[in-house]
Amino acid sequence: MKIAPSLLSADFSCIKAQIEEVETAGADLLHLDIMDGRFVPNLTWGAKIVSDLRGCSALPFDCHLMIVEPERYVREFRSAGADIISFHYEATPHVQRLLTQIRTLGAKAGLSLCPATPVSMVRDVIEDVDFLVIMSVNPGFGGQPFLPHSLHKIREARALIDERNPSCELEVDGGIAHSNILGVARAGATVAVIGSSVFNAASPGGAVRDFQAQLRGTVER
Ligand code: DX5
Ligand code: ZN
Repeated sequence: MKIAPSLLSADFSCIKAQIEEVETAGADLLHLDIMDGRFVPNLTWGAKIVSDLRGCSALPFDCHLMIVEPERYVREFRSAGADIISFHYEATPHVQRLLTQIRTLGAKAGLSLCPATPVSMVRDVIEDVDFLVIMSVNPGFGGQPFLPHSLHKIREARALIDERNPSCELEVDGGIAHSNILGVARAGATVAVIGSSVFNAASPGGAVRDFQAQLRGTVER
């Protein structure tokens, strides 16, 4: 399973060093949470910050748009350097159109589901999805506890992906910690987004290595 540290919990006063630390430790993607204060009750940053950070890292940028009217902004985030652009199923009536638009821009298309949205809602568009994102917390904040019913959803999503689009990545976002990452992996996820459990650790790089060691089934301490 790939590890995608979420910069939401990083210390932006030394963001370059924080990114270098997780990149050197072997993180696979960088997850950037874009919030508008409308789709979710929190604000983060826009395309300018993504563009500035682009120069700090060679890792693929996984931009998670938690915004209303995401179709208005995908081009801007792609130009800023996003490699994967995920938007919320709940944020637009024209899900299939937007997935296609993102792919046309040359990015991977991600579709994210809030905890209350069943996996069955995306059955008819799964062939157009490169990253299916199961939110295991209600989006908006880092540091929330993992919602247990997410494991069932991950298994359902795994079955749908295996049946209809086996190359689609299955990303899980929210509340992932050392206590539950193996369950998330066993349920069939291929990407783990981890915010607070990486950046609130004494050593973010050490935390990435610990998660990887756990996934390999070894303890390197
Ligand atoms: C929450 C964000 C997550 C968040 C995860 O709305 O989408 O990416 O950073 O943070 P943790 O790992 O602390 O739940
Ligand atoms: Zn996220």
